[in-house]
Amino acid sequence: MITNTFDLIILGGGPAGYLAAERASGAGLNVLIVEQRFLGGVCLNEGCLPSKALLHSAKVFDYANHSEQYGVKVGSVTIDHNAVVERKNKIVKTLVAGIKSKMRQNKVTVVEGTGIITGNNSVKVGDIEYTGKRLLICTGSHPVVPPIKGVAECITNGTVLTNREILDIREIPKKLVVIGGGVIGLEMASYFNSVGSSVTVIEMLPHIAGQTDKEISTILLKNYTDKGVTFKMNCKVTEVTENSVAYESEGKTEIQPADKVLLSIGRRPSTEGIGLETIGVYCEKGAIITDDTMLTNIPNVYAAGDVNGKSMLAHTAYREAEVAVNNMLGKKDFMRYNAVPSVIYTTPEVGAVGETEESAKQKGLDVEVITKPMMYSGRYVAENTRGDGICKIVVDKKQNSILGVHLIGNYASEIIYGAALMIETQMTVDYIKELVFPHPTVCEIIRETLFK
Ligand code: NAI
Repeated sequence: MITNTFDLIILGGGPAGYLAAERASGAGLNVLIVEQRFLGGVCLNEGCLPSKALLHSAKVFDYANHSEQYGVKVGSVTIDHNAVVERKNKIVKTLVAGIKSKMRQNKVTVVEGTGIITGNNSVKVGDIEYTGKRLLICTGSHPVVPPIKGVAECITNGTVLTNREILDIREIPKKLVVIGGGVIGLEMASYFNSVGSSVTVIEMLPHIAGQTDKEISTILLKNYTDKGVTFKMNCKVTEVTENSVAYESEGKTEIQPADKVLLSIGRRPSTEGIGLETIGVYCEKGAIITDDTMLTNIPNVYAAGDVNGKSMLAHTAYREAEVAVNNMLGKKDFMRYNAVPSVIYTTPEVGAVGETEESAKQKGLDVEVITKPMMYSGRYVAENTRGDGICKIVVDKKQNSILGVHLIGNYASEIIYGAALMIETQMTVDYIKELVFPHPTVCEIIRETLFK
């Protein structure tokens, strides 16, 4: 029987939405998910995963180009950017098909269209009104477009791209200017530098990579400078034209020629045009405010993922979605943000979790910071030619437990969850020293660092 009445209506089918649908239907709820573009959201379709596909191709290309360093001789190496994009598209198709199939298996009703909240228990999609005992808002985020002269026109004429369009361009730009040296900017600068673009990153702060530990972001900057990326730090973009970017540096206006411009200055929660004001959902700075059960100020209305602006990461969205569903089911569950890992998929990779030295000191915590070169790991020595990676651990002196771990060096992305586990479970330093790590691995660096 077709019904318009559900136990739970979810707006948005990205990581928060589809995971919540899976968990809630698994627990026996009758779930409707409304998605206006594509299941999988930004992460699967035009963010995390497609960018990893491109970066992996670049890594293979880089290895082939520098294979002599590893005693391997190959002929001339070329990159077929179109084939890279085709491979990326196939990966996205497979992943999205996987989500669709999960929704089918779980008997989740999926409706295509824009869902507008019309009441505390109702959502309209086109002319059809659906009612739900609970609502979960997972409408995600979108790129910030600043009111810089020429940007709007250059988005229309295709010179200025966001993370969405850059993944699909078919020609490698000769000159790529990246506005914003954050996560997206650095990952895309990495890919296009590897495949032959001349890349310039313009960043308004004195450092790249946002909240990353400053010693680590300095090492990352040096790596990419040595690879040929140009960084313009402390610079403010003032105008973009079809073939250049103007920016202010120390009071002077400079012009940087550009074939394409990537705009990556951050993302903003998508809270407009979905009827939040109809039921009075409280927002601050465009983000939905939730408590640590992901409940908004309105009973039975929850929000998870980028839309609450707390930690714009897909893995945070997953956990927030679970917390929301558990609370809907009457199980007490609370979201904790102190051990959410983050990764930058550059080469070398950056992995971080918990407090930095700076943030710990700002909170007045009594910490000891221990730093060791990655070269203390035998596997790292065997596999890397450059060797300037580091492991930095922030230790709470009073509790003798770990507050933060910051890594730069390959495999950091795969190692960092172990550090998150140590922080989340408040393992003591003495206990971690007793753990047996596999040898030889790069993760041994954590144990090694703690022995000072
Ligand atoms: P971001 O917040 O990471 O970095 C933006 C950068 O732009 C900052 O360094 C900022 O100082 C700079 N900036 C801001 N306005 C500027 C201006 N007018 N001129 C020059 N520089 C300016 O934002 P990004 O890179 O766009 O990423 C958006 C979101 O996507 C982030 O929340 C990130 O966590 C998430 N993301 C995560 C990934 C991962 O976990 N590996 C990969 C891609 C995105």
